[in-house]
Amino acid sequence: MDNIRGIMMKILLVYFSETGHTQKVSTLICDKLKEKTIDITLLESAELKQEHLSNIDLLLIGTPVHGLFLFAQNASKQIRKAVDRITNELKNKKVIIFATYLFFPAKALQKLENKIKNSNGIVLDSLAEHRRNKEELANAVIEKITESS
Ligand SMILES: Cc1cc2nc3c(=O)[nH]c(=O)nc-3n(C[C@H](O)[C@H](O)[C@H](O)COP(=O)(O)O)c2cc1C
Repeated sequence: MDNIRGIMMKILLVYFSETGHTQKVSTLICDKLKEKTIDITLLESAELKQEHLSNIDLLLIGTPVHGLFLFAQNASKQIRKAVDRITNELKNKKVIIFATYLFFPAKALQKLENKIKNSNGIVLDSLAEHRRNKEELANAVIEKITESS
C-alpha cells in the first residue's frame, strides 16, 4: 500500500445509499485516501452534474444492489439516473464500481458496467461485498486504485 503515497490523482466518489451501508463504505474509502493525501471528493448521487467530471482522473461509483427479492438485481435507480446525466463526460474516463448487498448481487454490477462501457467509459473493476464487510470492501477498492495508478 506504500506506493499509493506517490499517486497524484484527482478522484470523484459518487454514491447512493438508502440505509447507510454504501455511505459508510464511501466515507471509509474517502477517509483512508485522504490520510494518504489523495485528492478525493465525495458526492451524493443526486448532486452529480456533468461539470463534476471535468479534470478528474478516476471516478468511483458506490451503490446498493436493488432488486425484486431474487430477481432483476441492478444498481440503484438513483445511481443509474446519475450515470445517465454524465454520459457525455464518460468517454475514456476510468471508473471503479463498488456495491453493497444483503443476499446476492447477481448481474447488478455487470449491468452498470455495460452502461458505462456503452458511453465509452473504461471500467477498471467492479466489486461487490455483503453489507457486513464494509472495511473489506473499502480496502479492496483502495487496492484497485493502487493497482491502476
Ligand atoms: C428496495 C431494496 C431492494 C433490495 N434488493 C436487493 C437484492 O435484490 N439483492 C440483495 O442482495 N440485496 C438487496 N437489497 C439490500 C441492499 O442491497 C443492502 O441492504 C445494501 O447494503 C443497502 O445499502 P444502503 O444501506 O447503502 O442503501 C435491497 C434493499 C432495498 C432497500
